[in-house]
Amino acid sequence: MSTSATQAHHTGTDRMSDPNWWRQAAVYQIYPRSFYDANGDGLGDIKGVTAKVPYLKELGIDAVWLSPFYPSALADGGYDVDDYRNVDPKLGTLEDFDEMAAALHAAGIKIVVDIVPNHSSDRHEWFKEALASPKGSAARERYIFRDGRGENGELPPSDWDSVFGGPIWDRITEPDGTPGQWYMHIFAKEQPDFNWENPEIREDFLKTLRFWSDRGVDGFRIDVAHGMAKDLSEPLPMKAELEAKAHGTDGFADGSHPFWDRDEVHEVYAEWRKLFNEYNPPRTAVAEAWVHETRRARYASPEGLGQAFNFDLLQSDFDAASFKKIITDNLVAAKESGASSTWVFSNHDVVRHATRYGLPKGGSVAQGTNAAQDVTGGTKGQDGKGWLLAGAPAEELDVELGLRRARAATLLLLALPGSAYLYQGEELGLREVSEIPDAERQDPSFFRNPGVEIGRDGCRVPLPWTAEGSSFGFGAGGAHLPQPEWFQDYAVAKQEGVEGSTLELYRQALRLRSDLQTDEELEWVETGNQDVLHFSRPGGWHTVTNFGSDPVELPEGEVVVSSGPLESGKLPADTTAWIVRNS
Ligand code: GLC
Repeated sequence: MSTSATQAHHTGTDRMSDPNWWRQAAVYQIYPRSFYDANGDGLGDIKGVTAKVPYLKELGIDAVWLSPFYPSALADGGYDVDDYRNVDPKLGTLEDFDEMAAALHAAGIKIVVDIVPNHSSDRHEWFKEALASPKGSAARERYIFRDGRGENGELPPSDWDSVFGGPIWDRITEPDGTPGQWYMHIFAKEQPDFNWENPEIREDFLKTLRFWSDRGVDGFRIDVAHGMAKDLSEPLPMKAELEAKAHGTDGFADGSHPFWDRDEVHEVYAEWRKLFNEYNPPRTAVAEAWVHETRRARYASPEGLGQAFNFDLLQSDFDAASFKKIITDNLVAAKESGASSTWVFSNHDVVRHATRYGLPKGGSVAQGTNAAQDVTGGTKGQDGKGWLLAGAPAEELDVELGLRRARAATLLLLALPGSAYLYQGEELGLREVSEIPDAERQDPSFFRNPGVEIGRDGCRVPLPWTAEGSSFGFGAGGAHLPQPEWFQDYAVAKQEGVEGSTLELYRQALRLRSDLQTDEELEWVETGNQDVLHFSRPGGWHTVTNFGSDPVELPEGEVVVSSGPLESGKLPADTTAWIVRNS
């Protein structure tokens, strides 16, 4: 793409109308229930986001992505949606949403919202109607109902597991009180899967996308984008059959899994793309698709959603060779698909990177959800490694090392061409909260796998805004998940204006990033040291990261920011520096 197109991205109002604003945007993920609580009921809310627009502006991000804020019983942190075109009354009203959107836009910040199309909640009016209607009715056709196996239908239609553990099928009681059909839910039992072969479902989501686009939403994050399309022709294969097949064919990289990553899902996205392009600038979308790397480009295609997350860096150890390979491969893949690349270390589903990098290498990042969504559709990680990092013994965690590496990794990420996705709290250097008592946990993966999975609550604890006061300034009341004492040291108020704090590092880097950003090109510079990565971007912007243990010489130029102090002009272990050269 041309330099002028990317540079339009930096200049105030131009950026707001630039159709390419997303290509190299820094997008900050807000988990609304844990961001800021404006009304003091213990739950973050929409007015809380509005109140913190000055903070977001000062941080220097280009867009916010809001995790679901729709009416929900919170069986899965809001990813169980009761009504797609409304705001959860616990979080506010549509008017509050409009006010927030106006405030963000006035600050030059775009808005991305989460769309959850694979499943609704079991409190959605359509699911209630399906339960109250007879077998074979149009209301049942909106979801996936099947008769059970066995003499009296007492066995589930297949033996598949759900992502959160336990069977994928649940049996209902028919309106007449007799044991009845089974419905499918890839996730929790409170999240029944929609039947995407039903045109009514397709129409309704178009209506939802239009509803939010008309309200000024600039883009969408598509939850479980590799779900939705299903081939459930009978007889359904059993788990063992599926697993055997997966191993024989490099996972399910051929679209033949009955419910993950099927080719038909792209027909849906082609329709959505037409709708997105009716807007000016066109609405954007990014796919959450945990698919085989060879299949990602389809989601990112300009005829489809336009961009797809790659979770490769997020799943990697802090290691020079892996980082280099991942970056190289993803830049090639993004170019081929016409998208820009995405980069992410932390989100609401995984152990925060400040913890991951402080634990012994070789662990896995997920806590019971997304690694479980591997291509086999089974409930265990692809590599058989444990993923209980949040529950790892505290003595194995090196807090200081984890944060130092997290800062170095983030500074590297922010220099890469493409979009940077940041998760609330990482700008404070927060690590995973591992000390949540069982009785206060909320995540379904914890409850469905007692004693096995710890769940994702540890990265969803309400943010500390102040070092003192109720819930560390999160709100006038308590916090819906308990905050540990050590949060006080990480509070926004403790870091603001403090040189070298993680918050100031993010602010400085984000400011510089928008000044330095150029074409989506990256060139590796040979360092002669396998533990040191050095790349440059057009315009003389160089980034060097030392993954090794000894300080190294820096290349010539002005060091404009570094993730930690230099040592006698050298770049110490686990540190990144940006250097600008005027040639
Ligand atoms: C996605 C979300 C996760 C949620 C799941 C089911 O993976 O990121 O939080 O539990 O979908 O909607």
